[in-house]
Amino acid sequence: MSSSNALPPRSNVAPIPMECDAPFLKVEGELPRELNGTLYRNGPNPQFDVPGAHWFVGDGMLHAFHIENGRASYRNRWVRTPKWLAEHDAGRALFGGFGRRLSNVPEGTTQDSGVANTNIVFHAGRLLALEEGHMPTEIEPGTLATRGYQTYRDAIAGPFTAHPKLDPVTGEMVFFGYNAAGPFTPKVSYGVVGANGEVSQFERFDAPYASMVHDFIVTEKHVLFPILPLTGSMERAMGGRPPYAWEPDKGAYVGVMKRGGSTKDIIWFRGDSCYVFHVMNAWEDGQRIIADVMQFAEPPLFPYPDGRPTDPAKSKARLCRWTFDLSGATDRFTQHYQDETTGEFPRIDDRQAGLAYRHGWYACGNPAGAAASGLSGIVHVDHNANRRAQYLLPDGDTISEPVFVERGAEAAEGDGWLVATVWRARENRSDLAVFNALDIESGPVALVQLGHRVPDGFHGNWVNGR
Ligand SMILES: [Fe+2]
Repeated sequence: MSSSNALPPRSNVAPIPMECDAPFLKVEGELPRELNGTLYRNGPNPQFDVPGAHWFVGDGMLHAFHIENGRASYRNRWVRTPKWLAEHDAGRALFGGFGRRLSNVPEGTTQDSGVANTNIVFHAGRLLALEEGHMPTEIEPGTLATRGYQTYRDAIAGPFTAHPKLDPVTGEMVFFGYNAAGPFTPKVSYGVVGANGEVSQFERFDAPYASMVHDFIVTEKHVLFPILPLTGSMERAMGGRPPYAWEPDKGAYVGVMKRGGSTKDIIWFRGDSCYVFHVMNAWEDGQRIIADVMQFAEPPLFPYPDGRPTDPAKSKARLCRWTFDLSGATDRFTQHYQDETTGEFPRIDDRQAGLAYRHGWYACGNPAGAAASGLSGIVHVDHNANRRAQYLLPDGDTISEPVFVERGAEAAEGDGWLVATVWRARENRSDLAVFNALDIESGPVALVQLGHRVPDGFHGNWVNGR
């Protein structure tokens, strides 16, 4: 433990070494009585340290905050993947990331390096921990116990995105997988799981080149696959060079297909080289498709093929509007930045997913703050009023993805709360912060206080208790 006069730690990336249950947490302010459910979050938390390993490849740890009747409890558990179990038995790391096995791995050790560390979604009665290289891992909602891979009676196989889209109208889960013919291949899968939990479509197609495809776009009638030049290369990986690297000369492609149609009929649009990890939302407007994305001029966290880093000034994302003209007049799509503020982890009121929408939120940077590289506030975008609201944390603190929870089933779009974990740098512990989603500038209405910290993670979702 650090002494009271020690300098605060500079970041919240390091893993925590324990699992725990906190049945009754202290609350500052008042938790809204309508909040009844659980925020599930996921992120990398390596069981064993591997020097030099990429942040993305740490074992998934789940954090669940349950809120009911103004009270809050917490539980965290590692996902018991085959890799986690093998390393737990061995008492040491066996994998180095992106499938690489370390030396002296015991004979008979699993080949499966899945870490289930990126997202956690609830669909058709199943809670699924997701990581884009492997199938979904089913989790028991109350205990966070790992049930194992959910293969939908073997109707699907291969990698499964961490960002499937849940259609609020049909109840379908629409998904894809890249590297679908093996590591660093341009093959991509596409599929649909119906509201009944059964697979209704599963196909594969060839993308223009092998790349990291973290997210995609689904509207009421279309699916769009962004193939952006953060390329994957087996040759580089085998030669000890970066498996994923920034090759802007390859150009940006987005494949558009009709939902219910075939991947054979994908039409490819071209755009300026960029990278996008996350999509805010997208919808149809007559003959056009409009998508709001967090666009990077150059990707962060990944180098050029020769190992040179990308430009830190260009590797920050801003909200950007992509427009596709389906009339056949052009195969170019347009890209217009909507905001000066940099940020990541865009979210919406998920009841508007794939539809025209008014409200969005994202975690933002604070260029003037000490944690200039971290996410230290949230932005509310009101597209109708062309208005931006912002809340910045005390200097040094950082925030997770803000997840929207509606006030009730009949609430208007945006009427509800944002829930996010906040790292308190000076105290080196975390709060769960609850904001009024349409009045973030007033700051949190309630803070659920943890004694320990929740490391910077990726994504989460709220599951209603009703
Ligand atoms: Fe993501």
